[in-house]
Amino acid sequence: MSRVLAISGSLRAASYHTQLLSCLQPLAPEGMHIALFPGLGDLPHFSEDLETDPPLPVRELWQAIAEADGLLIATPEYNGAIPGVLKNALDWASRPRGTSVLPGHAAMVLSASPGLFGGIRAQAQLREMFALLNVYVVGGPQVAIPAVHTRLNPTAEPEQRLTDPITRAMLTSLLHGLEEAIDHQAGRRLVKPLHHLQSQQAT
Ligand SMILES: Cc1cc2nc3c(=O)[nH]c(=O)nc-3n(C[C@H](O)[C@H](O)[C@H](O)COP(=O)(O)O)c2cc1C
Repeated sequence: MSRVLAISGSLRAASYHTQLLSCLQPLAPEGMHIALFPGLGDLPHFSEDLETDPPLPVRELWQAIAEADGLLIATPEYNGAIPGVLKNALDWASRPRGTSVLPGHAAMVLSASPGLFGGIRAQAQLREMFALLNVYVVGGPQVAIPAVHTRLNPTAEPEQRLTDPITRAMLTSLLHGLEEAIDHQAGRRLVKPLHHLQSQQAT
């Protein structure tokens, strides 16, 4: 049984990325449970001044990442880069320095766009950032979905929502890669007592 935390980098109600994440559970290997993180829009703008006594949404993010065996990030591309809300969340997740809950996690990333290039620049940025944060990202297949609006039926049940068989096959393969990466990373997570979480929860 593996627990995967899925994060959509879009706050838009009809986000393609959130829709894509909602299609993935039926494609996942047996025993993998995917849960969507709901609180990206609640995070305050990152400031080091808030680190010592972070607001509840930040502690919830840390807790959700700490409890997950793997991460699954779907990022839009905004002006050639990852959206600010996602960068903000990853900046929070990377802190406090030395006790971040991120290092050692296995992760899978995907991107999509109504345009021709599938958000590949944002995805490349995300991969580079995760390398710096010691998060192990599954290498391939690299899933950057162009013309995403032609590959989803938003009104269908999750099992039928993803209408493009090639995208389905690639995402299925990627999810199996994530499962292998989670197994591979098991024991490599820097298991530290999460004093900063525990003490905050007590208050
Ligand atoms: C501020 C902004 C900048 C964008 N820049 C890009 C871009 O650089 N490349 C691209 O492929 N799409 C770009 N788009 C279009 C997004 O790919 C599109 O809005 C997509 O649907 C966003 O993901 P979502 O559906 O999950 O919200 C941009 C959209 C916005 C709002």
